[in-house]
Amino acid sequence: MSYLNELFGLSGKVAVITGGGGVLAGAIAEALLRAGANVSLWGRGNESLESAIKKLSTSTGLNKNLHKVIVDTTSEKKVREALSITEKEKKIPDILINGVGGGRGRSSFVDIDLGNFEEVLRLNLIAGLVVPTKIICSRWIEKGIKGSIINIASMGSYVPLSGVWAYDAAKAGVLNLTMACAKEFASFGIRVNAIAPGFFLGKQNRALLIDEKTGDLTERGKNVIEHTPFGRFGDAGELAGAVLYLASKKASGFVTGISIPIDGGFLVDNI
Ligand SMILES: NC(=O)c1ccc[n+]([C@@H]2O[C@H](COP(=O)([O-])OP(=O)(O)OC[C@H]3O[C@@H](n4cnc5c(N)ncnc54)[C@H](O)[C@@H]3O)[C@@H](O)[C@H]2O)c1
Repeated sequence: MSYLNELFGLSGKVAVITGGGGVLAGAIAEALLRAGANVSLWGRGNESLESAIKKLSTSTGLNKNLHKVIVDTTSEKKVREALSITEKEKKIPDILINGVGGGRGRSSFVDIDLGNFEEVLRLNLIAGLVVPTKIICSRWIEKGIKGSIINIASMGSYVPLSGVWAYDAAKAGVLNLTMACAKEFASFGIRVNAIAPGFFLGKQNRALLIDEKTGDLTERGKNVIEHTPFGRFGDAGELAGAVLYLASKKASGFVTGISIPIDGGFLVDNI
């Protein structure tokens, strides 16, 4: 086995990716598959999961290492059922990527719609972190599995992004819970880290960044590019290296509670 394979290879491992039909999840799944892992894509919509499987099968040829589970990760009961499906079809997962999340438009603070605010908190914190972490860590502790969790933070975890109040609050919470869970689960050998993507075109943020009619950047999109020293959006494939590093116990076995910005310099922008 080559040195790189020993350090980053994931053969024999099973990874669950929630929000498995999403844009970033697809790139993360591809990285994990290519590193040798089996991947269980968990998502709410059959159509987006099917299309993710088709795409991944074409790009990697590794469809035998891939399967889908339809699940709404807001529900503890449904997540327990999803876990037993993954266990039956593959085995108990070793890696959990908490990929559910996203925003729901912008507003001024005084125009906050409380229903929408609560929905975004539920999406990013409850479905996007708390429920899958609770259920899978409980199983890991029961079975003595020293798993690895990777949460998805955001630039809003570190600095408030304008007009997306609930998203900022939720993603600051994701960073906080990443650190808190790292401490909580350390004695079981379970590691909890996060990646923090800058701006990538996903399903839910596309309309904020690109004008659907003209295909041009929106004012918000222009602003993002101006504040990204690399002068572009990220390509989802650029998340692969950080994910493999955090997923692999050989590569990052003494690393827990950190977050890695992958942001083209957004956080170090200045005047
Ligand atoms: N795209 C970006 O620029 C960016 C930047 C920073 C952080 N992020 C974060 O990365 C994660 C993925 O983002 P994306 O852009 O790929 O989003 P996306 O909208 O493309 O994918 C999210 C997926 O989650 C699924 N989903 C939503 N609620 C669910 C639930 N309750 N149960 C199961 N599945 C559910 C959706 O169906 C969708 O397939 C999110 O947490 C997002 O906040 C994205």
